[in-house]
Amino acid sequence: RDLSNANTLGLPCRAEHYLLARTPEMLRQACRLARQEGWPLTLLGGGSNLILGPFLAGAVVRPTFSQWQVEAIDDESVRVHVDAGMNWHRLVMSLAEQDLWGVENLALIPGHCGAAPIQNIGAYGVELSDILERVQVYFPESDDFSSLSASDCAFGYRDSIFKRELAGRAFITGLVLRLSRRPRPRLTYGDLADRVGPEPTAKAIAEAVCQVRREKLPDPSDLCNAGSFFKNPIVSRDHAQSLLKSDPGMPCFPQPDGSVKLAAGWLIDQCGLKGKRHGAFGVHERQALVLVHYGGGTARELLSFAQDIAGRVAERFGVVLEREPRAIGIE
Ligand code: EPU
Repeated sequence: RDLSNANTLGLPCRAEHYLLARTPEMLRQACRLARQEGWPLTLLGGGSNLILGPFLAGAVVRPTFSQWQVEAIDDESVRVHVDAGMNWHRLVMSLAEQDLWGVENLALIPGHCGAAPIQNIGAYGVELSDILERVQVYFPESDDFSSLSASDCAFGYRDSIFKRELAGRAFITGLVLRLSRRPRPRLTYGDLADRVGPEPTAKAIAEAVCQVRREKLPDPSDLCNAGSFFKNPIVSRDHAQSLLKSDPGMPCFPQPDGSVKLAAGWLIDQCGLKGKRHGAFGVHERQALVLVHYGGGTARELLSFAQDIAGRVAERFGVVLEREPRAIGIE
């Protein structure tokens, strides 16, 4: 089965076996079959944060269950139960239209709901972990359905237990979000506040976020990409201070623990790499943190291009860039 169209980077990839799971029970059956046959198992969502190698041995399973419902709690808040296969952006827009608050800043993030906790998706001052109550999971080893609380998930910046201890060992089947019925606008990031009126609706914020993203980020259906290719690096205050001496305009985001988050896009941009093309890949011309694939390239070439970029940043700033999308079937 050809997966070239199932990953937004458009990398050539074939799966030995490909199974669609239309219900959590079908996911369980697929995992049982894989165990019987001795197949390694890969769970695929929207494919928007993945670097796929050329061949995935064993079975690739894609959950397609995508129901969601709102549960009333009290005058203040609601719970939203959503299946893993639901498209994240469609959920955000539907909730914002219902005037429910909490997800509006996360509009237009590609991918399925089931993948959102893995990297703790975040944008414009909000992270999934701010509104996530529980994650429903299936553990293939013990053949159990269970659920994890947000604190079990050990969320961090673009990080969770699903990237670490539970990598490949827990398959997300659904999410439980907690949203507010009362307005909770979060408009501190960039010029978001200027783009909406003084008393914006959740829908107006979601639309403004879509507008900002469309201005900067390439739409994967026009130009293959996986969003930010690197995490924003976190350095010590001393390191940031010494960089600020030579580059006073460097964007800096002080963290609660005293460390400082830098903008990887800015660092790459300063190295003169924005818009640079190397073979089938390039640094996006409007946002240097996004690597794009013009077609005909391989995962190996992409990783080597990314390594060159990280090398240039390390040489100039002494800052290590860590990759953001997950690599499967290649290292
Ligand atoms: N910048 C440059 N040149 C560039 C890119 C950025 O100078 O080419 C500067 C900007 O001017 C700004 C700073 O760097 O001062 C930060 O840029 P931006 O606001 O575009 O955000 P980012 O830090 O590059 C992060 C997330 C995005 C998220 C935005 C908005 C990560 C790895 N990326 O990008 O997430 O949409 O903030 O919150 O944290 C993603 O993860 O795929 C993603 C798109």
